[in-house]
Amino acid sequence: MRVDVDSQLHVAVPVRREPQLDRNVVEALYEMMVDEITQPQYDEREIALFKDPIYYYGRYLDRKTRRYAVQNLVSSISTAIAYLNVGETSCTRLVDLGCGLGMQSIIFASLGAEVLGIDLDSRCVELCRKRKMYFEARLGKVLNMDFMALDFRTLNPDVINRKYDALFSMSAFAHIQPLKVTVANISALLHDTARVFLWDQNPDCLFPRVLGKRQGGVPRPTDITIEFAKHGFSTELLQGACAIPHHFWHPDAVFGATSWLNGILKKNLQLSFSYIFGASRKERRGP
Ligand SMILES: C[S@@+](CC[C@H](N)C(=O)[O-])C[C@H]1O[C@@H](n2cnc3c(N)ncnc32)[C@H](O)[C@@H]1O
Repeated sequence: MRVDVDSQLHVAVPVRREPQLDRNVVEALYEMMVDEITQPQYDEREIALFKDPIYYYGRYLDRKTRRYAVQNLVSSISTAIAYLNVGETSCTRLVDLGCGLGMQSIIFASLGAEVLGIDLDSRCVELCRKRKMYFEARLGKVLNMDFMALDFRTLNPDVINRKYDALFSMSAFAHIQPLKVTVANISALLHDTARVFLWDQNPDCLFPRVLGKRQGGVPRPTDITIEFAKHGFSTELLQGACAIPHHFWHPDAVFGATSWLNGILKKNLQLSFSYIFGASRKERRGP
């Protein structure tokens, strides 16, 4: 394995949290993946997983859609870092639900969190473990993260005999159903004062509905809010994450304008095809 200790990242990792530095870390770690996938320890099957455009990093790895991917990843993930207090002593233990190939787990762990990545697919978990070794060598530091192959719907919280401060889920939560069971399992894994951050598909988005392509089968943000409220969570953050589909970001000449327009449109949840959601549980439950 080629080992590069990237001094740029050491500079970018914040000692005291600064939003711009968090953004730099997200961008720098994603950028390392471009080099990572050329390393000999990954086989063809694993490279194909990395390049999957729907499930994993295909939109990032494809040069044509990279700038679109970066724009949206940096914005939502750095919001999650701030919301979940990653790197602060108040939030060190974090679950990455449906962690996939672990990019977000790596980002959180590089900022100081202790991460448990959970994914249904054992191939993903194996690859996450390999990637942990790669990034530890590359960053020159131990990443406090562990990965578990598990269908979250069948979680027995007693098996994980510790409580977490935060749960993050990107493009996974909405597909782990029924909602009631998923939220109950999340609640059981978390402390009484924990936080949750979700980034997922918005079935309330008007565009697919107008085009007759309603995104069925995923829960609405209002239903998610109600379900978390049953477990003592207050929703504090609910906004659009991306309003303009990737097809319209390609031409360099319009990128700036597209990005600006996206920034305006995504403020309206109904105009956004994905949302970010943040909820916290502040009060101690029970007697
Ligand atoms: C679209 S991928 C997103 C991966 C990662 N969060 C990311 O954004 O790069 C969705 C992931 O959720 C996982 N998943 C789906 N159903 C699951 C379940 N019931 N329990 C745990 N993981 C699940 C899939 O295996 C897949 O890796």
